[in-house]
Amino acid sequence: MPTSEATTTYEKSARKVFIRTFGCQMNEYDSEVMAGLFELDGWIITENESEADVIILNTCSVRQHAEDRVWGALYDLRGRAEREPNLIIGVCGCMAQGRAKDIARNCPHVRLIAGTHAFSRLPELVEETSRSGRTVVDIDASRMPRLGALPRKRKSRLKAFVPVMRGCENFCAYCVVPYVRGPEISRSADEVLSEVETLARDGCREVTLLGQNVNSYCGPRKTGGTGSVKFAELLRMIGGVNGILRIRFMTSHPKDFPDELIRAMADVPAVCEHLHLPLQSGSDRVLERMNRKYTFGSYRELVGRIRDAIPSIALSTDIIVGFPGETEEEYNRTAQAMEEIGFDSAFIFKYSDREKTRAAEFEPKVAQRGIVRRHAELLKLQERIGAEKNRGLIGARVEVLVEGYSPRNPERLFGRTRTNKRAVFEGGEDLIGTLVCVTIREVTPLTLIGDLS
Ligand code: SAH
Ligand code: SF4
Ligand code: F3S
Repeated sequence: MPTSEATTTYEKSARKVFIRTFGCQMNEYDSEVMAGLFELDGWIITENESEADVIILNTCSVRQHAEDRVWGALYDLRGRAEREPNLIIGVCGCMAQGRAKDIARNCPHVRLIAGTHAFSRLPELVEETSRSGRTVVDIDASRMPRLGALPRKRKSRLKAFVPVMRGCENFCAYCVVPYVRGPEISRSADEVLSEVETLARDGCREVTLLGQNVNSYCGPRKTGGTGSVKFAELLRMIGGVNGILRIRFMTSHPKDFPDELIRAMADVPAVCEHLHLPLQSGSDRVLERMNRKYTFGSYRELVGRIRDAIPSIALSTDIIVGFPGETEEEYNRTAQAMEEIGFDSAFIFKYSDREKTRAAEFEPKVAQRGIVRRHAELLKLQERIGAEKNRGLIGARVEVLVEGYSPRNPERLFGRTRTNKRAVFEGGEDLIGTLVCVTIREVTPLTLIGDLS
């Protein structure tokens, strides 16, 4: 006869949780940790929302559009929540942190609101909600998020995100992240290193080090020395881990990019020739009003130094159009800057007012029509620049880490080059997880098509 305790365990282990992730790589990492913790507690992680007993939305607030998608998802769940009174819907992440009151007011069917500092306590909070039958809110930002090694259910065996720091205190005038993620905290270098070693033993071949601004990483050194570890040194430490073939990192703020870091990138063989370096605007007046702390001239000079040290480096960037007060001439400077630098890829964003940020108070706002036009024009411009860059690769032999079959054409394998470009080619299953050489035959703006060589 099972004891009542065993029965409880059985019921618990039969419960299913569905986690949907919005936003950036940090959220993807947090979701993997949540899934890992739920699994450790005996839950089943399901990919099928309709069979879930618990639905978690891990949310983003960076632009209005990101929040609108979450409101839409919550709205869609209302009917189901009415039909299934035991269903637990939880909102966590950045929007939970910043908009807890609005969520509670507008969505009585949400039973759990857990902020960015609570991600490692999610299974406990779900239990609390379930036990009490009440809505549980945990957005206490004074609690330190857990930085230590946490269990995680990884989406990919081959690649992993590794946060080196959390939070941001740069307060770019448009950005909500410092308000929802809190101040910067760096993990200890030993902690990061041992996590990467564990990942490597587990078959991981590529790590992406994460932080809102990894360049300001300053990690305590637990063992073997005094003082703190800067990001350049951390790269060198991770470069020594056996089995890790590729190291990427994001994001780097152009205001603090020491030569020491450029040297480390050039010296460490595993560090890939790709850098995400958000420019945001090509106009100095706009950059100043954005509180970015660099000029286009200093950005261009930095890119020059990076390209001198690593000639094959690919650059990607973020651009915002329609920042309050952005004139047509200032917008044109951004377009010129994109031409001049020649980014391999660029994310172009329409400016969106965020609560609490300084730019939300700035006037005059650019009319939505103007923002939409500028956005469309820069997308087109970047498509042309990116396509030109890719055409320059026809005939080149590039290294590709094979990730699997191409989702669009299952006859082909796909992977990424060291410069973070998507490559597709024909080959056998045995190549998945290995590094191969591919000679590029054709290109599209976003993909290289080639043959094993
Ligand atoms: N920490 C990173 C990225 C943070 S958010 C960095 O500093 O680069 C990612 C991008 O979203 C930013 O680079 C910026 O281009 C964009 N973004 C942030 N706030 C925005 C807003 N209010 N409106 C439009 N785009 C925004
Ligand atoms: Fe936002 Fe600026 Fe911090 Fe990036 S560096 S997260 S854009 S405040
Ligand atoms: Fe969005 Fe939060 Fe990331 S606001 S971009 S999910 S840090």
